[in-house]
Amino acid sequence: MRRRWTATVAITLASVLTLAACGGGGKGAQPSSGGGDAKKQVEVFSWWTGPGEADGLKAMRQIFEQKNPSYTFFDAAVAGGSGDKAKALLQSKLQADTPPDTFQGHAGAELQGYIKAGDLEDLNFLYDELKLRDVFPAQLVDQISVQGKVYSVPVNIHRSNVLWFNPSVLKEAGIAGAPRTLEEFVADLGKVKAKGKIPLSIGSEWTVTHLLESVLLGSLGTDAYNALFKPGADWSSPQVTKALETFKTVMSYAGDPQDDWQPAAKQVADGEAAFNIMGDWAYGYFHNPPDGGLGKTSKTDFDWAPSPGTEGTYLWLSDSFTLPKGAKNRDGAVAWLKVAAGKEGQDAFNPKKGSIPARKDADQSLYTDYLADALKDWSSDKLAGSIQHGVSVNQPWLAAITEAVGLFIGSKDVAALQKALADAAKANAQ
Ligand code: GAL
Repeated sequence: MRRRWTATVAITLASVLTLAACGGGGKGAQPSSGGGDAKKQVEVFSWWTGPGEADGLKAMRQIFEQKNPSYTFFDAAVAGGSGDKAKALLQSKLQADTPPDTFQGHAGAELQGYIKAGDLEDLNFLYDELKLRDVFPAQLVDQISVQGKVYSVPVNIHRSNVLWFNPSVLKEAGIAGAPRTLEEFVADLGKVKAKGKIPLSIGSEWTVTHLLESVLLGSLGTDAYNALFKPGADWSSPQVTKALETFKTVMSYAGDPQDDWQPAAKQVADGEAAFNIMGDWAYGYFHNPPDGGLGKTSKTDFDWAPSPGTEGTYLWLSDSFTLPKGAKNRDGAVAWLKVAAGKEGQDAFNPKKGSIPARKDADQSLYTDYLADALKDWSSDKLAGSIQHGVSVNQPWLAAITEAVGLFIGSKDVAALQKALADAAKANAQ
């Protein structure tokens, strides 16, 4: 799998250097206490509890348990898509110096925040031992490094800019295929509305920020989108105003907000709604057998396309696992990281999770259907970093964006949204 990384990587690298200048420091690393007859528990912290995503974690856990009979896997997952609740709890655990043994953190600006706070041990020893620099794309390793030290193990690559749709609902509305531009999308949303179905399903608040990043990318184009995260970026431009006006129009076709991303995606699979813009974890949910997923048939019950206006760009994110300083069971955490880094672990996890492997040497035959499309696009598309999922903005910046989007949902005030987004960029761009 060969990859072309574009501007977004350079941007984050610049922030890496800034962070590096600030230095790490903080808590000291504590090796684990040994001993004890009882099986030692390894606390793995994530937010993969819900239908679809829990399947991926379960598959990786099985490999971990086979390989590590002396450890017990303790699933410390906190419910709530995109980690909105998990990350808040994690922060309090880190501040209280009671970290889980390992936690999920997104490659990019989000992980850089944990590194800067001195929360993480560097993993160079593991990268050397397992020769991991040879198997992960160098530019992905850059996103999780500071000054030559690597701080996490990436398990996957997800795509954020996917338009999921129900082919029958589109047909009923006289829509021939997935819309390729935002203008076509708006026209199609109107056609679905006229038929009395939900044009666009949405979930809890974070799914609206998720939608916003796809609309920004689709409206601005890749280079202008990536430029939004450079120091001094112009969020006040007429181009951003236009993108936000389009966002407002798109949102005017949204159905009632569902509790999280799964019930919103299910409205599409069940034929109640036509479209949903969601990351490709939705594929795992649609496709996995009914004990975890919906067991739906691809191309019949659901279909996909790049979100309107974004064909040729992979709006990417990557889940990775860390070694927090002061973890109670450091050896157990390292054993987990070895599974997460390994080919077997990644090839068990990703087909269920709806993601493609971070490793370049994965067994490509396991990635079929939507995932074959994803592998192909990943190898040739331009890149843009997700906002909602930790690549382009750090957690304080995302919190400010989330607040602005939350207010917008009530007010529908584009000027106020744009000003809040511009202020958030000024306060947080590094
Ligand atoms: C993302 C995460 C994905 C998936 C999604 C929905 O932030 O990277 O793995 O879990 O949230 O919960």
